[in-house]
Amino acid sequence: MSTSLETQLLIVGGGPAGYPCAIRAAQLGLDVILVDKDGLGGTCLNRGCIPSKALIHAAGRFEAIAEQAADAAMGISCGAPKLDMRALTGWKDGLVDKLTGGVATLLKAAGAQVLSGWARFSDAKHCVVTRDDGETVAITAQNVVLATGSKEVELPFLPFDGKRVLSSTSALEATRLPKSLAVIGAGYIGLELGIAWAKLGVKVSFVEALDRILPLYDAQLVRPVLRWMKAHGIDVHLSCKAKGLSKTGLVFADKDGTEQEIKAEQVLVAVGRKPVTEGWGLETMGVDMDGPFIRIDDQCRTAMRGVYAIGDVAGAPMLAHKGTAQGEIVAEIIAGHRRRFDPASIPAVCFTEPEIVSVGLSAQDARARGEDVIVGKFPFAALGKALTMQAGTDGGFIRVTARKSDHVILGIQAVGAHVAELSGEFALALEMGARLEDIAGTIHVHPTLSEGFAESALAALGQPLHIAR
Ligand code: NAI
Repeated sequence: MSTSLETQLLIVGGGPAGYPCAIRAAQLGLDVILVDKDGLGGTCLNRGCIPSKALIHAAGRFEAIAEQAADAAMGISCGAPKLDMRALTGWKDGLVDKLTGGVATLLKAAGAQVLSGWARFSDAKHCVVTRDDGETVAITAQNVVLATGSKEVELPFLPFDGKRVLSSTSALEATRLPKSLAVIGAGYIGLELGIAWAKLGVKVSFVEALDRILPLYDAQLVRPVLRWMKAHGIDVHLSCKAKGLSKTGLVFADKDGTEQEIKAEQVLVAVGRKPVTEGWGLETMGVDMDGPFIRIDDQCRTAMRGVYAIGDVAGAPMLAHKGTAQGEIVAEIIAGHRRRFDPASIPAVCFTEPEIVSVGLSAQDARARGEDVIVGKFPFAALGKALTMQAGTDGGFIRVTARKSDHVILGIQAVGAHVAELSGEFALALEMGARLEDIAGTIHVHPTLSEGFAESALAALGQPLHIAR
């Protein structure tokens, strides 16, 4: 059976860009249809951010108990932990179900209509949604928001099979762990998942094409992560390229081109993600492209009037919170408000061990833009709260970069246990145009990790209290 619908706003994709757009648009009184094939919440809730953070938390808990069993620190002794991977995955799935159910409830409460199915456009304002039962719904929309997201890049010579060659999706669904894992790509996904599996007892090795891990971050920031990996027996093969599977593992070419092998039961391919631009009629819509992404302006408008693109399909960085911010803005623009996507920074966190946060420019980036800067750095080893949380010995620090002439903060980076939770204060400082004196003059609660931010500002001003000048 086929039905027809007309709507003021059609959103394709119910991930962290599309669903907030639908909620805000419906709140603003627009008539909204959201179409998604794979379940609300998109990659982030179902196959990305949330399941990986659940796994990372569980792995951290497992490792902490194992360490406790080994050295009875703080006078607490216990036996070695045991892992039931099926139960861990079940717990993680329960969290995902709870959150995706919550998204459905929020959309319904706001008054947005959700259609489960695959949309295919015949032109910029018309599409047909094919539902799971084969029924079709023809939709005519005044405005369209494209939020189709991204998917894992596959290596042609190592296709995902869910058994020996894993994508991040299949790695997050694992109900048993291999004894050994070779990870191709030491970027966000490879490091987050590889480190978590290492904590759960898997022998992990990395093959990375570049001469460093996490190339977006400077060497100083990444050093504590490398130190942790080395101390925990993780091998990192830099400037090396994966070549293919052998009977017993992964073959790669080292920097001289010599072939070597890593013995590994499974291989995780984490070499990036690409926007989903095929299979839904994008070519019929008259939009312009920017490389693999849909080209947008600062209001997320494409080249076609009334068609917007947000989230991973609309360009880097492919981060959930960027898509959410774009989604809210686009909903308001369509409702007639004057909005632009022009953030002072898009904060980024890598949930490695320890965690890394970056907001705005590093000193190196700022200098490359011609800025004369001052830098303040404060180590967690000098912070009481960090020591009480056993978080002061991993080489972590907070580093702030400010313009020398007016002390306006240009960037903040941190590495250390729990620093992800400081990212909000860092982003706020940049968004509000804070100066070093604003941060140093804000009373930060003692004892908390956030004191390290005030101390780094004081250090940049040449007057730190808790480290020698
Ligand atoms: P990525 O771009 O972060 O890292 C991929 C790495 O693979 C690069 O370092 C690259 O040099 C390497 N590589 C590529 N081809 C290779 C080959 N043939 N042999 C060896 N190494 C090779 O990509 P990743 O980790 O897949 O993540 C994709 C995106 O997902 C990220 O850019 C990020 O936007 C998002 N993400 C964000 C997270 C967060 O915010 N915490 C967590 C996970 C993903």
